[in-house]
Amino acid sequence: MFKILIVDDEASMRTFVQHALADDEYDIRTAASVPEALDHVREEIFDLVITDLMMVPLSGMDLLRAVKELSPETEVLMMTAYGTIETAVQAMKLGACDYITKPFPVDELRLRVAHVLERKRLQRENRWLREELFQHFGIENLVGQSPPFLHVLEKVRRVAPTDATILLTGETGTGKDVIARAIHLLSRRASRPFIAVNCAALPEQLLESELFGHVKGAFTGAVANRKGLIEEAAGGTFFLDEIGSIPLSIQAKLLRVLEQKTIRRVGENREIPVDVRIIAATNRDLNDALRRGEFREDLYYRLNVVAIHLPPLRARREDIPLLAHHFLRQFSQRDQKAIVGFTEAAMTALMKYAFPGNVRELRHIVEQAVALASGQWITVADLPAHVRTATTASEERELETALNQVERDLILQALRRNEGHLERTARDLGMSRVTLWRKMKKYGLAKRFVPSSDSPQ
Ligand SMILES: Nc1ncnc2c1ncn2[C@@H]1O[C@H](COP(=O)(O)OP(=O)(O)OP(=O)(O)O)[C@@H](O)[C@H]1O
Ligand SMILES: [Mg+2]
Repeated sequence: MFKILIVDDEASMRTFVQHALADDEYDIRTAASVPEALDHVREEIFDLVITDLMMVPLSGMDLLRAVKELSPETEVLMMTAYGTIETAVQAMKLGACDYITKPFPVDELRLRVAHVLERKRLQRENRWLREELFQHFGIENLVGQSPPFLHVLEKVRRVAPTDATILLTGETGTGKDVIARAIHLLSRRASRPFIAVNCAALPEQLLESELFGHVKGAFTGAVANRKGLIEEAAGGTFFLDEIGSIPLSIQAKLLRVLEQKTIRRVGENREIPVDVRIIAATNRDLNDALRRGEFREDLYYRLNVVAIHLPPLRARREDIPLLAHHFLRQFSQRDQKAIVGFTEAAMTALMKYAFPGNVRELRHIVEQAVALASGQWITVADLPAHVRTATTASEERELETALNQVERDLILQALRRNEGHLERTARDLGMSRVTLWRKMKKYGLAKRFVPSSDSPQ
């Protein structure tokens, strides 16, 4: 069920829209003025407000601003009789989700409303998934709403409660560590230890004794019996980070942990049973290591029971603003700075940057920027030079394409409304006939609407 508010000072228009949208799925209210509409908005949370633009004394634009402030998640669709490009662009900039030019056919309105609400429904489902994961389990530090990231979370949620061995893959800084911890916290092992070992950080012999423990006298320096870390993790989760660099000799012993759930301490022949869940991670392509014979195939298949791939940040750019704000909050709190956000240009620069170091690099950049920022906003100047230069040309091209799309759309709507009559369309759009003709040619609309003999000089 979606709640919709229709706002227009013309009663006939209100009725028209209300009838057009009559549907069991929609719960509809109407208001004849902006103040009346705001009374509704203060009282209930609407999914969508459909408002006329030209109303006095307060306009649809005023309503848009107020709604975005009172209830930021409510979508606003503008109806405008004056299809001027500037107002539509301005409304979109202020957060309107769409606009429609009056008069419009019933079907077009229905289609646009259905489209907006479908997007809302998806958002709602995503939020539900996040809330379930994060509020119920207290994992607040996993940020991201992009479809690829939600896909990862969905998988995490599904496999976490099982005892399945998990292989996490992904470039450096994509969050393999945080995901491993999240899996542990979401499992029935949450109250037991989570122990991580970086397999690349230790020389072979030391790694072996760290993992499996040793008995006194097993090697020089083994002055007493010592429990290995896998044993320490009993009942909990053992995280093998950078599994790709584990030596072959240790791989065989690890296989035993996975297959028989036992370990053998260095210098001892006895098998000791252990109950641990193994999560392994790698930022290398294990297939390469397999081909070169540096990684045992049987171990690979044992580890790869469930594979979770963490996509690089550049493949989920929608998460950049969320993560950037998340880190901004963290660091401005830590450094006791009252920074409210990023300027548009700074955010654009971040959105454009390729982030070879992924989330870790973004975190770093924000940390630095917070330290540098002198005002309330993080500006482009607070970003590293290589991030700054990532924007510019291609950036401007994209904005221009977006504006062109809006303009083409408006001209097309106006042409249809005026049955292709140039003079009337131009007047309707508030531009000269020559300008209109030029734009029609630019957007490939000229042939469609006007016989070429009609073209102005
Ligand atoms: N989704 C996320 N939400 C919030 N913080 C994240 C997220 N993903 C990663 N981070 C943060 O980014 C940094 C890098 O993440 P992490 O250490 O998990 O990466 P990694 O994949 O293990 O990298 P490496 O391969 O270099 O070990 C950490 O500070 C982590 O907290
Ligand atoms: Mg890591």
